[in-house]
Amino acid sequence: MCGIIGIISRNNQNIVPNIIDSLEKLEYRGYDSAGIAVINNNGKILRERAVGKLNNLKNKISLNPINGTIGIGHTRWATHGKPTEENAHPMMSTNIALVHNGIIENYEQIKNNLIAQGYKFTSQTDTEAVVLYLQSEIDKGVSPREAFRNMLQIVEGTYAFVAIFDLMPNILFCAKNKSPMAIGFGQNMCVGSDASSISGSCDEIVYLDDGDYAEISKDNVEFFNLDFYSIQKEKIKVTDDLVNCGKGNYEHYMFKEIMEQPSAIRKTIQANTISFNFFDDISRILILACGTSYHAGMVARYWFERYLNIPTNVEIASEYRYRSPIIEDNTLLIAITQSGETIDTLEAIEYIKEHNHTCKVLAIANVKNSAISRVADFVFYTEAGIEIGVASTKAFTSQLTVLAMLAFCKHQYLLDNLRNLPTICEGVLCLEDKIYNLAQNIQNAMSVIYLGRDNLYPIALEGALKLKEISYIHAEGFAAGEMKHGPIALINDEMPVLCLCPSGRMFSKMFSNIQVAQARGQNIVVFTDDKGALLFDCNTVVLPDICEELAPILYSIPLQLLAYRVTVLRGEDVDKPRNLAKSVTVE
Ligand code: G6P
Repeated sequence: MCGIIGIISRNNQNIVPNIIDSLEKLEYRGYDSAGIAVINNNGKILRERAVGKLNNLKNKISLNPINGTIGIGHTRWATHGKPTEENAHPMMSTNIALVHNGIIENYEQIKNNLIAQGYKFTSQTDTEAVVLYLQSEIDKGVSPREAFRNMLQIVEGTYAFVAIFDLMPNILFCAKNKSPMAIGFGQNMCVGSDASSISGSCDEIVYLDDGDYAEISKDNVEFFNLDFYSIQKEKIKVTDDLVNCGKGNYEHYMFKEIMEQPSAIRKTIQANTISFNFFDDISRILILACGTSYHAGMVARYWFERYLNIPTNVEIASEYRYRSPIIEDNTLLIAITQSGETIDTLEAIEYIKEHNHTCKVLAIANVKNSAISRVADFVFYTEAGIEIGVASTKAFTSQLTVLAMLAFCKHQYLLDNLRNLPTICEGVLCLEDKIYNLAQNIQNAMSVIYLGRDNLYPIALEGALKLKEISYIHAEGFAAGEMKHGPIALINDEMPVLCLCPSGRMFSKMFSNIQVAQARGQNIVVFTDDKGALLFDCNTVVLPDICEELAPILYSIPLQLLAYRVTVLRGEDVDKPRNLAKSVTVE
């Protein structure tokens, strides 16, 4: 959450357009406000900030340009203080401007000390305490370098900081603890919250680790550890997968990403090899994840217990370590994450590593070299490519693909079916007209119910999450068998009930649940296949035939398309839904 950027031009060019470019790539991390600060040719810090999406800042800067060859930028997801201009970063005082991603837990204490010394606060943010602390050091005659180091000794919490000082106008001061940060070398020297945001003008990247501190100048970067000893860091070449190629001919990233799913699944299958013996020493599996990735984990539990015969639990990472969990020896922890950064998942992994040394950690991540992939013992990458739409689509079906490869590693016929899946998914993408009609049917609904059983129950949850997170229509997914225990009370003629019911093991049970729903409401829609469709006398969406174990992947796609279409019909911002961020680095 929150994207930060810092750039120094190596050939004395104005870097404001580059900062704006990078902020565009970071907007997925939050869009409550945006801001830029530069040091101009006279050595003065200039700043511009605007509430809301980056476009507002761009408009302001076009009317009132600022220029500089060194500068910092920020796109905010509000934690402390409402999304107002006063609370927008960069935070600034006489000699300093600073951007921050994270939360300073002891800011009240720092703030109270500074207030007692006569410093005046103008925002409600935790970050301003850091800036005014730095200013108080400068006011005592401490150098910027010492001030920054002293600040790092007193702050507690999570942070990625980039600061500029007018007294040392050629240096970007950076530090990281828990929040991500990458430094790039190329035609400009850059630092950003992710590699993609700086890949445009950099050929090589260094990822900072927790406790690292760096000083970036035009020609050099010096790295230091927690004790401020100079350290060396490994440079990584920028690869194509870090570069965001834009929306192409699509109106929205989300639609492009839905359409890319056959290729993402195909590439994921090609890129990963899972040995027949992979699970030989494993007596338990524990899956930890958040949001959509958690739903992928829920599907995997059905697969793992059925095909690997290994007891499997799946848990929401943000809850896990607060309930004194019992971790059995030889448990394989599988952390599922698109971003590889979600702090709840990262902290849960660290908890397990601390409490049981026999556990191994497998990460399933989409972003290469991300924090979670670096702490894991093994990583299987999903090859979905950069996902920009805040609502996860291709990353989700690619996660399911890796999980299926793991679960079916001893079942060749299922792996063969999986290989055919990308082609079958192409067939679902052609259902656009049918989905459009359905979207018109539910676009004005107050609430929508999704029903599934067995491995499609998590897909009912995921379908409901997709709809509510982007269209703002309330939606709930239920295990169809649970309806009779309460939720059925919600069904009336106005309530759309979307049922996932392919032919197979669960068909007759699900068929009965749908009859019960039909007896109470008129707006029942069944997602099924040709064979199933013959038996229903209500609205159906007919999907291609699929091996029932792979139905969760296929049946996700029309639900994504539906959420997308409804949101477009309602005129909402599909790619940047309100209050959300794609990468969640606060607890
Ligand atoms: C955020 C995103 C979701 C995502 C969740 C977990 O809430 O908006 O789309 O599922 O974080 O993120 P991860 O990167 O760990 O999969």
